[in-house]
Amino acid sequence: MVPFPADLTPPDCAFASDNAAGAHPKILEAVIAANSGHELAYGDDPHTRRCEALFAELFGAPVRTLLTFNGTGANVLALATALGPSQGVLCTGWSHIAVDETGAPERVLGVKLIDVPAADAKLTPGDVAAQAQHFGVMHHVQPGVVSVTQSTELGTVYTPEEIGEICEVAHGLGMLVHLDGARIANAVAAHGQGVESLRAMTIGAGVDVVSFGGTKNGFLGGEAVVICNPDLVRWAPYLRKQVTQLPSKMRFVAAQFNAALTDGLWLETADHANQMARYLYDSVRKLPGIGFDAPPAVNAVFPCLPDQIIDPLREWCFFWDWDRLRSQVRWMTAWDTTPVDVDRFVAGVRHFLA
Ligand SMILES: Cc1ncc(COP(=O)(O)O)c(C=O)c1O
Repeated sequence: MVPFPADLTPPDCAFASDNAAGAHPKILEAVIAANSGHELAYGDDPHTRRCEALFAELFGAPVRTLLTFNGTGANVLALATALGPSQGVLCTGWSHIAVDETGAPERVLGVKLIDVPAADAKLTPGDVAAQAQHFGVMHHVQPGVVSVTQSTELGTVYTPEEIGEICEVAHGLGMLVHLDGARIANAVAAHGQGVESLRAMTIGAGVDVVSFGGTKNGFLGGEAVVICNPDLVRWAPYLRKQVTQLPSKMRFVAAQFNAALTDGLWLETADHANQMARYLYDSVRKLPGIGFDAPPAVNAVFPCLPDQIIDPLREWCFFWDWDRLRSQVRWMTAWDTTPVDVDRFVAGVRHFLA
C-alpha cells in the first residue's frame, strides 16, 4: 500500500452517510432540556403533545403523528397501517424497504414487496397502473400500497406533481400511498418553498402515510410516522407497539423533533447538506476520469470513478460503493459538512486520480 502524502489531510467529516454525522447542538440541548424530572412514559408527556401539535401545524391538517425509534421501524409501521390482508407493496428495486431493511417488512408484516426496476429510483403512474392486472386473481398477491421514497435512494426527487399523479392512479385503483421520507427534509429544501413544498409533496398530493425522517438530519435518533389519511388512524397505536416501535421515554424523541421543527432548523440543516453536495459536485465534475449521471438534487453525489482508485481513496476517507459493476460510489454530505471538508476531500480525489 502506497503511503498517503503527509500534506494530504483527510476531512474531519467522512462522506459515508448523513447517518455518520453527530447530532446538531440544538437537538442535544433540547434533549438535555427535556431531561428534568419525571414524565409519564409512552408519549403521555408535554413534549410529545407539543410534537403532535407541531406536526399538525406543519402539515396544515389534523394529521396523527406516531414517533418511532428508527427509519426501518417507521416504514414497517407506516405500511402496517395501510395494508389489508393478502395485499402487497409496490416499490422500486432501489427502495430501502426492498434492499436495505433485511426483509423487515416481509418478516414483521408477512407482506410481499413487488419491486419493479426504475433507473432513477422513481416509480411512475404507469408502474402503478400495471398492477391492475393482478386484481381479482386469486393466486396473486393483491397490490394494496404504493411506496415512494422522497428523496430517493439514488438522490433523485419526485416533483409534487409526480407524486400527485401516482396517488391519483393508486387511489383510482383502490390502493394507498406511503412515502418513505427518511430524507424528506432534503427533498423539501431542494424544492425550495419550505412548508408549502412539504405539503405539496405529501398531504396535498394525496399521500396517505409518511415516514418522516429525523435521524439523517442531525438527530441522535428518531423518526415519525405521520398519518394523513384518517382511515388509517384507528389501529395505528396498537400496531406501533406490535412492531416494537413504541418508545417508552418518548419525550426524548419528541424533544428532538420539537427543536428541529421550531424556527425552521430541519430545513436549514437539510439545505446546508444539499449545498455541500452541490459544492462537492461542482469541485470535481470536470476532473478527468470522473463521470456523473446527473448533478445532485439533494445531499448525495454518485460519481463513477476509475475502478483502481476507489479502494485507496476509501482507505484515506471512507465512503460506500453504490454500483461496483459501474465503479459507481456514493459520497454523501450532512448537516455538519463544511466547505473545508469538501476542499480537503477534493484534494484527495485529485491526488488519487493523478
Ligand atoms: C430511504 C431510507 N429509508 C429508511 C431508512 C431507514 O433508516 P434506519 O437505518 O433508521 O432504519 C434509510 C436509512 O438509510 C433510508 O435511506
